Amino acid sequence: MGRVERENIPEGDGRGSEVGHVPVLLPEAIDFLAVKRGGSYLDATVGLGGHSCEIAKRLGAQGRLIGCDKDPQALQVAQARLTGADSGDWPEIRLEQGSFAQVGKWAEKASLDGMLADLGMSSLQLGNAERGFSFQAEGPLDMRMDPYEERTAEQVVNRLDEPTLADVIYEYGEERRSRRIARAIVRSRPIRSTAHLAEIISAAARPMNQAERRIHPATRTFQGIRIFVNRELDDLRELLQVAPRLLKPGGRLVIISFHSLEDRIVKDAFREGLTKGYYRVLTKKPVTAGEAEIAVNPRSRSAKMRAAEKVLKG
Ligand SMILES: C[S@@+](CC[C@H](N)C(=O)[O-])C[C@H]1O[C@@H](n2cnc3c(N)ncnc32)[C@H](O)[C@@H]1O
Repeated sequence: MGRVERENIPEGDGRGSEVGHVPVLLPEAIDFLAVKRGGSYLDATVGLGGHSCEIAKRLGAQGRLIGCDKDPQALQVAQARLTGADSGDWPEIRLEQGSFAQVGKWAEKASLDGMLADLGMSSLQLGNAERGFSFQAEGPLDMRMDPYEERTAEQVVNRLDEPTLADVIYEYGEERRSRRIARAIVRSRPIRSTAHLAEIISAAARPMNQAERRIHPATRTFQGIRIFVNRELDDLRELLQVAPRLLKPGGRLVIISFHSLEDRIVKDAFREGLTKGYYRVLTKKPVTAGEAEIAVNPRSRSAKMRAAEKVLKG
């Protein structure tokens, strides 16, 4: 496992319970992956290992699982959870740090029986104010999933010119008040913390109607900046482009997304695969969480899962 430092290990039992990340649409994702004993699988967003653990249990000693994540802290938790399992019937597991845009480096052509990507952030990232993802806590303007990358939220907020900043907030945050917010941010520079940024946005973007009152005024702007900092949509496009080449015929691709920008990209990629004849789309409509899951895991409310099966060419 590359570039994972021991001192980054979060406190706790190392099994993920201490960070409370509940995997979204877990039984549905496992069903659509149709995990085969002895098969080869890739979890592109291993996170704290929730989905990976369920895949690994079904693989047996002849199976193989590659897990990747941008976040070295998450990989430490996943490693403890996945390699600590007390069973002789456990697959070979390899964890890789980096973006799933580079999966082609970690898996051979036509070698995988299934690939899973559960996009977005883990509770480990969202719940740690030091990572700078949350507008509800005082933290540094960071927002990097991969701490080895250079672009931070601090640079975006304090250095981008006003029109570009407004475009980021509009395009990736789907925030209609982007110009007003960008102007307020530029006028308030230098901005030093997440709480300071949230305060500036809240003052600039008062809710316009009842529906907007239900979400924090900084929600969309924080989403936009985070997507830009982590190049989330570009990475997803690259993953979707390479996936059909890595899957064996009959191999499954399962993607769980958390906002409409991601879901549109997945839907379009699957439609293209169907048109060109290398995918059979298994989900006519995206699979969403039921009321029972939403009640115990509110994060699942916005999840949309799509699945496809590799047909022949790709
Ligand atoms: C929702 S969490 C995954 C949780 C995991 N399925 C589990 O059950 O524990 C998403 C993870 O994807 C990682 N991630 C997001 N975009 C990535 C990318 N482009 N490449 C690699 N990892 C990425 C994040 O760092 C985060 O740990």
